[in-house]
Amino acid sequence: MRTGIPLVDLRAQYETIRGEIGEVLGEVLDAADFIMGERVAELESVFAAFCSARYGIGVSSATCGLHLVLHALGIGLDDEVIVPSHTFIATAESVCHCGAKPVFVDVCRDTMTIDPEAVRRAVTPRTRAIIPVHLYGRCADVAGIRPIAEEFGLDIVEDAAQAHGAFCDAGRAGTMGTAAVFSFYPGKNLGAFGDAGMITVNDPSLYQRMHMLGNHGRTSKYSHEQIGFNYRIDALQAAVVSVKLRHLNDWNEQRLERARRYNTAFSTAGCVTPTAMPGHVFHLYVLRVSERDKLLRTLRANDIGAGIHYPIPCHRQPCFSDRPMPGLPVTEALVSEIISLPLYPEMTDEQQDRVIECTLHHCASHDPLPVQ
Ligand SMILES: Cc1ncc(COP(=O)(O)O)c(C=O)c1O
Repeated sequence: MRTGIPLVDLRAQYETIRGEIGEVLGEVLDAADFIMGERVAELESVFAAFCSARYGIGVSSATCGLHLVLHALGIGLDDEVIVPSHTFIATAESVCHCGAKPVFVDVCRDTMTIDPEAVRRAVTPRTRAIIPVHLYGRCADVAGIRPIAEEFGLDIVEDAAQAHGAFCDAGRAGTMGTAAVFSFYPGKNLGAFGDAGMITVNDPSLYQRMHMLGNHGRTSKYSHEQIGFNYRIDALQAAVVSVKLRHLNDWNEQRLERARRYNTAFSTAGCVTPTAMPGHVFHLYVLRVSERDKLLRTLRANDIGAGIHYPIPCHRQPCFSDRPMPGLPVTEALVSEIISLPLYPEMTDEQQDRVIECTLHHCASHDPLPVQ
């Protein structure tokens, strides 16, 4: 009997590092040092170095990390922060947690990341920051956003939740703005065994401030300079992520190879494939096809775990229904075309061939996606 193909196979990944993980978890348990401590400090410095950033701050999730960065930058009531609508809700949530307003803008059709022209049009006297999201593992056009940020004195906060190790002409993910935030959610390219994340930053005073605020606003054990948060990463998660970080470059390379293999197979199928260039770490392989929902049903009927990232753009979420609906034509069009196919480093040729076969069969039986 053929077994199913998941979107991401966390058990297969665990099998490849079981020994290393067991050892490091045993060490943390033996030391009984679960909060802050050596493991956390080690991951912070190794991950920052991996990104070529000066400092890392472990956090309990990327959602908390984004909130911490915006809060530390003093973003609050009546401020506006420009975000793409085509992203996971956490990007916008973090802005709302500061009492500020997320201003949703469109993405570029080819990259599916924030459109610099749309950013420029959205700037108002209340704008304080821009959050480019390196969606699916591909860097957003930070080179296009930088001149706008400089002209209007805005901070760039990278949402690098899906982009560990990604890079582009403008630099490495984690170093292109005022600060950046990565997620270690289990299914990410670099995932913990629970919720966790990391901020990277170069500015020493912003680092100090975020470090203090994320740990109850502490300056020493019982002295709390400001009202802060408990946004700390824990030592067990830090230990797991440290082990996995050693493998990340290889895993990202394997993802890129799988993406290229998909692209070759789909090159004449009448769908739109993502450009597989170095620096794109393929957190997700997202294809654009006609009759997407039918393909999704076919794949699922064949026990293939496809997904949609994301089926409802942020500006259409019920939680934002009290606001005027912005016109975001590219985002609106993309949501009915995108499909995420299984992609993970441990995937076999045989598994990928089954996904390819099903997808090609769908494409052959439907009109090609109109070229736009
Ligand atoms: C683009 C993006 N931003 C933020 C987040 C939030 O990450 P976390 O689950 O670590 O809070 C995610 C996680 O899915 C994400 O994909």
